[in-house]
Amino acid sequence: MKAIIPVAGHGTRFLPVTKVVPKEMLPIGSRPALELIVEEAKSAGADEIVMVISKGKELIREYFKDDPAVSFVYQHEQKGLGHAVLQAAPAFAGGTGNVLVLLGDALVAGGNASRELAAVSRSNGGAAVVGLERVPREKVSRYGIVAMEESGRITGMVEKPAPENAPSDLAVAGRYLLDVAIFDFLAGQRAGLGGEIQLTDAIARMIAEKPLYGCVYRGRRQDIGNPQGYFKALEAFGENR
Ligand code: G1P
Repeated sequence: MKAIIPVAGHGTRFLPVTKVVPKEMLPIGSRPALELIVEEAKSAGADEIVMVISKGKELIREYFKDDPAVSFVYQHEQKGLGHAVLQAAPAFAGGTGNVLVLLGDALVAGGNASRELAAVSRSNGGAAVVGLERVPREKVSRYGIVAMEESGRITGMVEKPAPENAPSDLAVAGRYLLDVAIFDFLAGQRAGLGGEIQLTDAIARMIAEKPLYGCVYRGRRQDIGNPQGYFKALEAFGENR
């Protein structure tokens, strides 16, 4: 299995340090946060990892240069998460099966979220799976929100809805195991919220053709894209040691 880790964002919620240090390279103990995400992917079965970086984030490239499993592609314009993931498409040309996507600013403590997704996929005939967490209703507008049946099957997905339009309180939480057909949907995806190519919108179109299941994983996700989430991640990983 191959994995994609989009890490092209400019870290505007974590200035000024991100002027020179990518947020994903901030240390959790002696290792950059991103290395923990790489380990999560590998231990979930990923043997090739494509990182989507941008100009100014070469420190990431430098750090992982001796890891033969990791390769790099550039996102030259900040056009959204869906656009970032699409930059990795050439590595999947002609491929079949699933691709694991791990958001580089979502660090999960207390369990391997990707492995849980892989297990849910296996018990549903290899279907695609999205990692979820429950969020307070007033915070749904910060996330992709899904509509999910009792069976775990996802029937809808909307990016950052207003609370009154949200189909549930189940939020997309930084981990996706998607059919590689996602690249076709992304290639034809129009800009959505914020004028960006949203991964959520492409997945929402794909579920009409390919089944998608939800998995509320056990670990706790921390958004290390801002100082507050980073402090929480330090605490969580400190406790687990
Ligand atoms: C992205 C996704 C969103 C998801 C969130 C957390 O949003 O677009 O659907 O819920 O990550 O995984 P962002 O945090 O980049 O605004």
